[in-house]
Amino acid sequence: MTLPAVLTDEGRLLELLGRMTLEEKIGQTALRQASGGRVDDALAHAIRDGRVGAVLNEVDVETVNTLQRIAVEESRLGIPLLVGRDVIHGFATVFPIPLGQAASWNPALVERGARIAAHEAAACGVNWTFAPMIDIARDPRWGRVAESFGEDPHLAGLLGAAAVRGFQGEDLAAPGSIAACAKHFAGYGASESGRDYNTTSIPDVELRNVYLPPFQAAVDAGVATLMTSFSDLNGVPCTANAWLLRQVLREEWGFRGLVVSDWESVRQLQVHGLTADDRASALEAASAGVDLEMTSDLYEAHLAALVREERLPLAVLDAMVANVLRVKLALGLFERPFTQAGDFAPAANAEHLAAAREAARETVVLLKNDGALLPLAAGAGRAVAVIGPLADAPFDQLGTWIFDGEARHSRTPLAAIRQLAAEGAMRVEYVRAVETTRSRAHDGFADAVAAAARADVALLFVGEEAILSGEAHCRADISLPGAQEALIQAVAATGTPVVLVVLAGRPLAMERIAPCARAILYAWHPGTMGGPAIADVLFGAAAPVGRLPVTLPRVTGQVPIYYAQKQTGKPATPESIVHIDDIEASAPQLSIGNTSFHLDVHPSPLYPFGHGLAYTTFAYEALRLSTAALAWDDALTVTVDVVNTGARDGDETVQLYVRDPAASVTRPVRELKRFDRVRLAPGERRAVSFVLTRDDLAFYGRDQRRRTEPGEFRVWVGGSSDASLGAVFVLRPAPESLSSSDSDHRLSHE
Ligand code: NOJ
Repeated sequence: MTLPAVLTDEGRLLELLGRMTLEEKIGQTALRQASGGRVDDALAHAIRDGRVGAVLNEVDVETVNTLQRIAVEESRLGIPLLVGRDVIHGFATVFPIPLGQAASWNPALVERGARIAAHEAAACGVNWTFAPMIDIARDPRWGRVAESFGEDPHLAGLLGAAAVRGFQGEDLAAPGSIAACAKHFAGYGASESGRDYNTTSIPDVELRNVYLPPFQAAVDAGVATLMTSFSDLNGVPCTANAWLLRQVLREEWGFRGLVVSDWESVRQLQVHGLTADDRASALEAASAGVDLEMTSDLYEAHLAALVREERLPLAVLDAMVANVLRVKLALGLFERPFTQAGDFAPAANAEHLAAAREAARETVVLLKNDGALLPLAAGAGRAVAVIGPLADAPFDQLGTWIFDGEARHSRTPLAAIRQLAAEGAMRVEYVRAVETTRSRAHDGFADAVAAAARADVALLFVGEEAILSGEAHCRADISLPGAQEALIQAVAATGTPVVLVVLAGRPLAMERIAPCARAILYAWHPGTMGGPAIADVLFGAAAPVGRLPVTLPRVTGQVPIYYAQKQTGKPATPESIVHIDDIEASAPQLSIGNTSFHLDVHPSPLYPFGHGLAYTTFAYEALRLSTAALAWDDALTVTVDVVNTGARDGDETVQLYVRDPAASVTRPVRELKRFDRVRLAPGERRAVSFVLTRDDLAFYGRDQRRRTEPGEFRVWVGGSSDASLGAVFVLRPAPESLSSSDSDHRLSHE
């Protein structure tokens, strides 16, 4: 990554810092909202005075260039601006929502999407995106699950690092590279009750083992910036959390880029109840290690006095400014502050749209396919009914937080199916049936039912509009909103086979209606090219390859439900669970299992993490280990034969999970450690191998240090987190010459 290379410019940085007045230093800590397409006098004035170091939300390239010109040519020191924007899942070309991209389990796909987004954004003068969001999200009520890479630290870490590489490229200073921002540091996904901005209580062990690893992966990938979370973490809001920002991020991980607050989150320290006034908020945030203040102006108002009164050491302010300047230097902004839009390929060009289509294809997850209903034939004489509020919803298929995406570029599923139908002489009848996903009226049902009755198959495009997920859009009930369940039931009652295509920003709880469908395709919000991508999969031009990056619950009340749960002291067993309907009247208290389950829902999810079908089937056989007794410094090779037992070519995502069944802190029942995608022809058998070392078995213990403990481990390989083919091995203790704490220490610095 490029940041370390900046070290060679550290002299230049210090020289610049040495020439700055106190006010100019404080100016570099200010991130201000731009005016959207025009140069605001007050902002221009502030930039000229050296009172602003960064702006956000300006994507008109001429305006950006004007602001940069004022900074570079009219301010005393000529320091260029950071220009930030939320480029979350594409820019003009909108890719699937991050949660959808995570369903590809394909880092290269995520990297390519980020690269294209970076190019399109850079053409507008943007040099910094507030992405990727790598919060672990285990509560689908939380609307921001849409922006996440899902529930698993290993997967989210790999994909987060890929996004960082995509945005930043090999050289952050090259045209088309923009600084990435790993957010929200940290623990935001644990917001209580899935309500946005809510408080979090995360034990240190869980924070270190679950929520922090993706951030460390992003730092290791060279991410230039991090954003603090709005949330309160164990009593200390993240924007004032010196333990997170100094000890973990800088001291332990060696991060050298900048930390930005979230929107007004410095001012909100008082609202949280941490501080009594704005001045104290500025002091807390700056002391904790927040270098740049987003949109509120407390640093501008109070840092000078705090420094003069020696309440904030000048050295702390200098370090904040150095962190900001280091990123500006790494971006090459001093050499190349202006943007020539003509140097870039046009936005939403054919190549970008093709990449978005490919990405959307890979994000579609085939949850069920009874009787191999899919893929469908599009031939002459066939008739399909296309029903539902999301079959032709160009805006909603884009998903949340797409300020630079335009619905006019969207290709909808209906348009794509109609095109296929025209080519294949298939008959298509379209009935929207309900206006939006929230509509409660049943007036359109009769037409939908009639169309389904006339068709060979009914394709129902249901789910959530874009506005029902994303920031501040949380739901307490995550079943299909409005009249959609009733619509599905009415259409299914015709007897025509039903295919549900679900477009949503979160995992929905679909236990009630899943049985109505012969096939279910989970397409998330698939972006600009979602329509053709979905049609490709429905009609077999592409086979489904997506795998769930999150658990799909049966009902909302199961939340949080995730595969890497703890075993508990009383795990549910098939024999111990009882359903509410089967309990006799006046049954004694001890008549049921006394294990961990709900009385009114099966303890399993509707579909587990990692699940996803292909148009063929796979078998796993002959799991073998290179050794059953792994030496401390050795590597273990786990090999399995994967066989395509169906009649079509297919891609399988082979997943390896481990468990440490006896450890000094309780460990999850399973943890994903490796995966690989293989393509197999019918009948083909392939040996797939994974190599594990003790580092893969490490975890943070009670002392907050990373350790591996010798003893027994279990390993499974299969097509989902439910994989049943497993083996056991033993990790032998460290050689006598190393005490266990020596070995732990060594490991933590490897
Ligand atoms: C608030 C969000 O939490 C953050 O993710 C985003 O980058 C900023 N607003 C800027 O829009």
